[in-house]
Amino acid sequence: MKLFSSVHDVPDVKALVKEALHLKEFPYAFKALGENKTMALVFLNPSLRTRMSTQKAALNLGMNVMVLNMDKEGWALELRDNVIMNGTTVEHIREAAAVMGEYADIIGVRSFPGLKDREEDYSEMIFNKFVQFCGVPVVSLESATRHPLQSLADLITIEELKTKARPKVVLTWAPHIKPLPQAVPNSFAEWMCRGDVDFTIAHPKGYELCADFTQGATITHNQDEALADADFIYVKNWSAYEPYGQILPGNEDWMLTNDRLKITNKAKVMHCLPVRRDLELSSEILDGESSIVVHEAGNRVWAAQAVIKRMLEGL
Ligand code: CP
Repeated sequence: MKLFSSVHDVPDVKALVKEALHLKEFPYAFKALGENKTMALVFLNPSLRTRMSTQKAALNLGMNVMVLNMDKEGWALELRDNVIMNGTTVEHIREAAAVMGEYADIIGVRSFPGLKDREEDYSEMIFNKFVQFCGVPVVSLESATRHPLQSLADLITIEELKTKARPKVVLTWAPHIKPLPQAVPNSFAEWMCRGDVDFTIAHPKGYELCADFTQGATITHNQDEALADADFIYVKNWSAYEPYGQILPGNEDWMLTNDRLKITNKAKVMHCLPVRRDLELSSEILDGESSIVVHEAGNRVWAAQAVIKRMLEGL
């Protein structure tokens, strides 16, 4: 594997999930694989889980790991071509990415969308430029439109905890005070559409995701209808795709509570974290037995380890 940016980079999703669960059982079985190899994790935006879980995964495989908080510690990057760099940017992504490729055998990159220009965000300009210029395999640590390591961890979690062959999984929109990217719901949707699950997306009118990510999903504006008999509920806020990056008025009553869970099949509640308590998801759920958010975050290690292992095997 040379690139992990979406589910489309994985020929056999089931096999990758199985491999991740095997690594969870035997974390150090492939410690020799990464000996004398270096992983660079480059963050253009903040992170807790992605940073620590991917670092741990690479260490479990015997790699050396370097973390660069590019947004705080790196030179201001110029992304555009054919511009005279007489403004605030100091280094062009062409040189920066190529130099990182000299130091690392595998690079992970996090770059969030600006949420201003949909065409630019959905072209994945920053992530794709890293891929183009660094010359080594690249793992997405969340890009403008997708968060594949999160989605793989989510699928691993569902596979581990499901009590029936084909569980009902519901992605439900949740309120927030800030416009958030569509990367997590886009990615979750396209991974679920490739998984062996009965998948429904519930959101208020106006929060339709880009149809490229939701092929095969049942989509409804009725949250209760979606939650009925659900086995897993994935709670997430996202801003509108059209008008792009906007929060639409109302919909505060979409926050999930214990009362809403009564119509589910004792559903387990997931969230990628970080989560704003009692705005996006109620404390009573987060502190109760339905919540599997910490377990889910723990599985980020095995998702990352399975992907890095595949890349090391291809070096
Ligand atoms: N879920 C997730 O990606 O968390 P971080 O933003 O903290 O990495």
